[in-house]
Amino acid sequence: MSTYPRAPRGTIAPGKLFTDQHGHVAQLHGVGIQRFDGLFWAWGEDKSAGGTFGGVACYSSPDLATWTSHGHALAPDPGVPDIAPGRVVERPKVLRNPDGRHVMFLHVDSPDYAYARLGWAVSDRPEGPYTYLRSERPLGNISRDIGVFQDDDGTGYLMSEDREHGLHIYRLSADHLAVEEIVSTTLAPPGDHPAGQHGYESPALVKADGLYYLFGSDLTGWSTNDNKVATATSLAGPWSEWADFAPPGSATHDSQTSVIVPVHGSDAISHVYVGDRWIRDDLFHSAPVWLPMRIGGGKAQLEWRDSWTIDPATGVIA
Ligand code: GAL
Repeated sequence: MSTYPRAPRGTIAPGKLFTDQHGHVAQLHGVGIQRFDGLFWAWGEDKSAGGTFGGVACYSSPDLATWTSHGHALAPDPGVPDIAPGRVVERPKVLRNPDGRHVMFLHVDSPDYAYARLGWAVSDRPEGPYTYLRSERPLGNISRDIGVFQDDDGTGYLMSEDREHGLHIYRLSADHLAVEEIVSTTLAPPGDHPAGQHGYESPALVKADGLYYLFGSDLTGWSTNDNKVATATSLAGPWSEWADFAPPGSATHDSQTSVIVPVHGSDAISHVYVGDRWIRDDLFHSAPVWLPMRIGGGKAQLEWRDSWTIDPATGVIA
C-alpha cells in the first residue's frame, strides 16, 4: 500500500494525488491543459519509467477534479530515436490549430539534457494517438522547458527556456506547425547566479483584462523555488519587474508552475494554478499542487486551500 495521500475523487487537494476512473495514480506531471467544447483535456508526463520517457498520458475531466484516463496520447517508440524508451520527453503542451488539428509540443532531450530540442506531434483527436513529426532547435536556439499560449485572435505562441539567451516567447505559424519569430526574450533579475544571468523556466502565460501575465520558475531542477510573474500590455513587452505570486520563502507552496488554466464561467473568470511538487527519487508519485489564483490589476496571488472545487459552468470556486 502506498503511503502517498490521495485526493477524494471530485476534489482538488494540493499535495494529494489524483486518481483516475480505475483508481490508478493520475500521471498529470508537467501537464498541459486545454478546455475543448466544455471538457478539460490534460496531457501529462507518465513517470512510470522515472525520469525517462514513459509516454504522454491523456486525461479528460468535466471539472478539473474528476479525471478519466484515455491511456497514452503518445507512447514510447523504440523505432523513433527522439521518443524511444530511455529518452527524456517532458512538458507536453497541446494547441488546437485553426484546421481543428491538435498540435503537441514537447521538450525532447537526452538523459543528460544536452540535446535540448522542441518536439512536434499531431493528431485529429485530443486524446490521440499522436503522430510524432520531428524535433528542432527553434530558430537555432536551445529549447528545454516549454509552455504554449493562444491569443484572442487565434495566434499561437510558444514559450521556451534557452539557457544561452533567456526565456523566449516565439510566435507560431498560422497552422501552429512551425516557429516563426521571437516576440520577446526575458531574463531573471541580475543577482547571485553563478552560471550567469538566465531566463526563467516552466513558463506559463495567460491574458486577463487585456494584460499578459507571464509565469516562470528559477532553474533549480526538481527542487522548488519562489516562482515569479511579470506583466505586459503587449507580448513584445516591455515586461514589468518579476514579482512573487506566493508567500516569499514558501517555494511557491513547494511547487513548480506547469500551467495556469483560465476557467470562463457564467459568474466568474477564475484561474487555476497547476503546479508540480516533484519527488526526485519517485517522480511517479510527485503530487499536484493546484490552487486558485487571483489575477487582476497587474498582480497574481495564489490562495491556499486544503481541499477545493471549481464549478465549471459558473467558474465559482468553493
Ligand atoms: C527542471 C524542469 C523539469 C525537469 C527537471 C529535471 O528544471 O523544470 O521539467 O526537466 O528540471 O531536472
